[in-house]
Order: sequence, then C-alpha cells, then structure tokens
Amino acid sequence: MAKQEDVFKTIVSHAKEYGFVFQSSEIYDGLSAVYDYGQNGVELKNNIKRYWWEAMTMLHDNIVGIDSAIFMHPTIWKASGHVDAFNDPLIDNRDSKKRYRADVLIEDEIGKIEEKINKEVSKAAKRFGDSFDEAMFRQTNPRVLEHQRKRDELHERFAKAMEANDLAELKQIILDYGIVCPISGTRNWTDVRQFNLMFKTEMGSTADGAMEVYLRPETAQGIFVNYLNVQKTGRMRIPFGIAQIGKAFRNEIVARQFIFRMREFEQMEMQFFVRPGEELKYFDFWRQTRLRWHKALGLGDDKYRFHDHEKLAHYANAATDIEFKMPFGFKEVEGIHSRTDFDLSQHEKFSGKKIQYFDPELGESYVPYVIETSIGVDRMFLTVLCSSYEEQQLEGGDSRVVLHIPAPLAPVKCAVLPLIKKDGLPEKAREIQHRLRFDFNCHYEEKDTIGKRYRRQDAIGTPYCITVDHQTLEDDTVTLRHRDTMAQERVSIAEAERILKEEVSLNSLLRKLL
Ligand code: GAP
Repeated sequence: MAKQEDVFKTIVSHAKEYGFVFQSSEIYDGLSAVYDYGQNGVELKNNIKRYWWEAMTMLHDNIVGIDSAIFMHPTIWKASGHVDAFNDPLIDNRDSKKRYRADVLIEDEIGKIEEKINKEVSKAAKRFGDSFDEAMFRQTNPRVLEHQRKRDELHERFAKAMEANDLAELKQIILDYGIVCPISGTRNWTDVRQFNLMFKTEMGSTADGAMEVYLRPETAQGIFVNYLNVQKTGRMRIPFGIAQIGKAFRNEIVARQFIFRMREFEQMEMQFFVRPGEELKYFDFWRQTRLRWHKALGLGDDKYRFHDHEKLAHYANAATDIEFKMPFGFKEVEGIHSRTDFDLSQHEKFSGKKIQYFDPELGESYVPYVIETSIGVDRMFLTVLCSSYEEQQLEGGDSRVVLHIPAPLAPVKCAVLPLIKKDGLPEKAREIQHRLRFDFNCHYEEKDTIGKRYRRQDAIGTPYCITVDHQTLEDDTVTLRHRDTMAQERVSIAEAERILKEEVSLNSLLRKLL
C-alpha cells in the first residue's frame, strides 16, 4: 500500500496537472506558501464558498453577510490583541541559517516518540496475530511505557513553557532533548524570540507621514467593528449573526503541507451575537450545526472529529476544532469559539464608542457575547481534494484516476461529448450544451477518443458526461455516464437535464441541512 506521504504528493501533483492549484509566481521559481487557483480550482473554491454562504445567510433568518475591507484602522489590531500577542516563538539554526518555530520543533519531537510507540505496537500486532490485545500491550510493555513516560514528561514541560510564554525554557527543552536542525543536523541554536505574524505596509505617501497599517490576519475584526452598523441598519435582534468571506494574511514561519498553511489564505467566518449567559447553549448549537454542514458532503463521517480545547484563551469560555483526517493526520479545518464579550468590549474601550444592545425583552442594555465559527476556504478545499482522489484499477488491466468530488461542488457539472466529429453530431452536442449552460458549468469536448475524454473528465471530477451519437439525431436520446460507477444509461435529453438538475444543484446539499 502506498505511504500516506506519497499519496499526498500524488494529490499535490494532480492538483497542478489538472488546473486546480499552482505555485504562485512559478516562472520566477515561486513564492513560498503562496498559491494560485487554476481554472478548475477556482470553480471548486467558489462552489465551497457558495455552499457556506448560502447555508449561513439563506437558511438562517437571523444571519446576514458583509464584505469589509482588508485594510483597517491599526488601533483595531491593538484592541484585538494581535499587535501584542499574535506571535509565534521562532528559533534560528546558525549553521543552516534556517528559521523554525520552536513549538513546532518540540511538537515534532513528541510526534517522533509517538511514532516509536506505534512501531512497537504494530510489531507486536504482527507477532501475536489475532490474539493481540492492543490496550493491554500499551499498558504493560516496558518499552512502550518508557516511551509514554518520556512523551508525557516532554508534553507537560512544553505546555507549561507555552502557557507561561517562557522563551528561555522553550530553548532549554530543545537543547535538553537534543533536537537538531533537519538541514544541518546540528544543535547550534540561537535564543528563541517572539515573531509577530501580521504583515505591515504603509498607507499614504511618506511625505505626508504615512500610516503603518496591517494586512488583516483574520476577517473577524471586520465583523466586530461593523456590529453596530449592521445591527442598527438591519434592525437585527439578538440572537443574530454576521457572516463574511475574505482574504487573511499571516507571515507563517513554518509553511507546510501545500495549501494547509499559507501566507495568504481565505476565511469564512461568522460571529453570532447572543445574550450573556446564553453563550454555551449557542456554542453547542453551532458545534452541531457546523458538523452537519461538513457531513452533508458525504466525504465520510469517520473522517471528522472534534478536538475540544482544554486550555482556553483568556477571553474564551469554550472552544473546539473540527478536525478532518488528511493524509498527514487529523488536522484542524474549522474552529468554533465562545469568545464572551471580549472583542466588542475591547473595541468599546479603544474607540471610546458605546457598543451595546438594548434588549427589549429584558429592558436592559449589554455588550453581546459572541460565538464564532471560523473555517479556512483553502483547508476545506484540501479536505475535498484529499478525500475525493482515487486511483482505480479497472477490469482488463486498465486504470483511471477519479475525483469523487460531491457533485454540487464539482468544477464542471457535465461534459457534452459528440461520439465523432462529423455527421452533425458536434452541432447536436453544441445545442445540448447551450440548453444546459444556463443552469450549470457545462463543457463541450470533441478531441480524442470517447474513452480518453471520459478519463479526462473523471480526473477533474465531472459527475456526468452526455454522449451524443447517431441515435440522438433520430430520437433525442443520449448516453448519460455516471462518474463514480461508470454506469451508462440511455435517456432522453429532457430526462438527462432533470437528473442533472436534481443531482448537481447546491439545493440538494442545502436541503440536507434543515
Ligand atoms: N477568527 C478566528 C481565527 O482566525 P484561527 O484558528 O486562527 O481562528 C481559523 O483560524 C481557520 O482559518 C482555521 O481553522 C483554518 O481553517 C484557517 N487558517 C488559519 N491559518 C491558516 C493558514 N496559515 N493557511 C490556511 N488556512 C488557515
């Protein structure tokens, strides 16, 4: 069986080869952790965004959207805590001149110890066969117990250092555990320093005294600072939500795993404003609602899990991540946080403006509490890509690569293919494409054999192909080919249109949510 790392590399190459994702500035040797979406990628990305946007704003009477600017007044980032605390601890290796996140180096070391434990377990499982009791083995095997003790000890020391923001201790851990630079192999480390992740630029000409501004590291603050505008102009009554999709920028020190961690990425965030004291009820509501949104895609229920935070940020009173099983392990795709009244209160303090809600039922004013749901578009894109990719061996020694992208998200919904390039078949196929193109992204293709054309459509995840042959000219029937099963059925053009409308529309997904 192919190793998961190799599977991931294959998916990354496939994404490039079929016009989903390109390295930014590739002809200039690329720009690290910045990516461009190609002709198929942008369609998939837009469909993901539409699915989220419509689920938020169309299925909830009390959620509206906004689109705030990327540039914002710099004091906003002081109020939000990003200027002082949006930092990663970094360390340099003097020999390789490479820079690392100190916390990631230590997490990788913990991962290595866990790998050792897993190796012991799988070796024993092979040795004992069916009679193997894994739980018992983990509890009693002296080598496993020793590794576990080391892991727990390191984990505890690491968690304490992070909690206390103790940079000297982080360096000491790296030295004590003999962690070496993966490039130079040496332990010649600098001290650990804090590194702020926000990108800075200047607004206005320098002669006027330009103002230093930041590229926003999250879209959420654009929602908070517009809370009053939306509440008043939309006559919104609590509880209500504001949704936004937009770019965010973070100067990530360690950018890894393709589009999983990028320097420019896109977020879909929703802030739900509630009465103080009711936040945990709504936290639970959004936790379940968001998981339902993910599961409705049918990527596999077993691929999701919650990771509830034990250690909470000082302003949060509950937090969880929805994690998805990527080829490189379970990873965060979405965060759901109960952020109390922290953000709005901070903006009240820093702006000097009252940001309160008069609750007519209670007859009193208060700063609303907030539940936030925050998901990365690019990470969502990666979950869809990774879970859709399949290399299939077919009967007769043939093979194909197919992307089982959920039909409503597929970049191209249908390809209309004339069997041959003559006898009026291209004209008939064009006529069918024209009939369908007002409802879906519908492609026409006549080059190469029909088999090759099917394979190309499979590789970009097109759920249906309509093949036009001589019989079509006689009775208006076509062959409808299904991507996942490769089954072909003879149906009328009208029936093909009906099936497509039912299966590929976003409607079919949204209906599963209510
Ligand atoms: N407003 C809350 C917030 O921004 P976060 O956990 O820092 O919370 C939310 O980010 C989501 O944004 C993450 O769950 C992830 O999907 C996405 N995200 C964060 N940093 C990212 C990066 N460097 N590249 C791609 N996606 C990222």
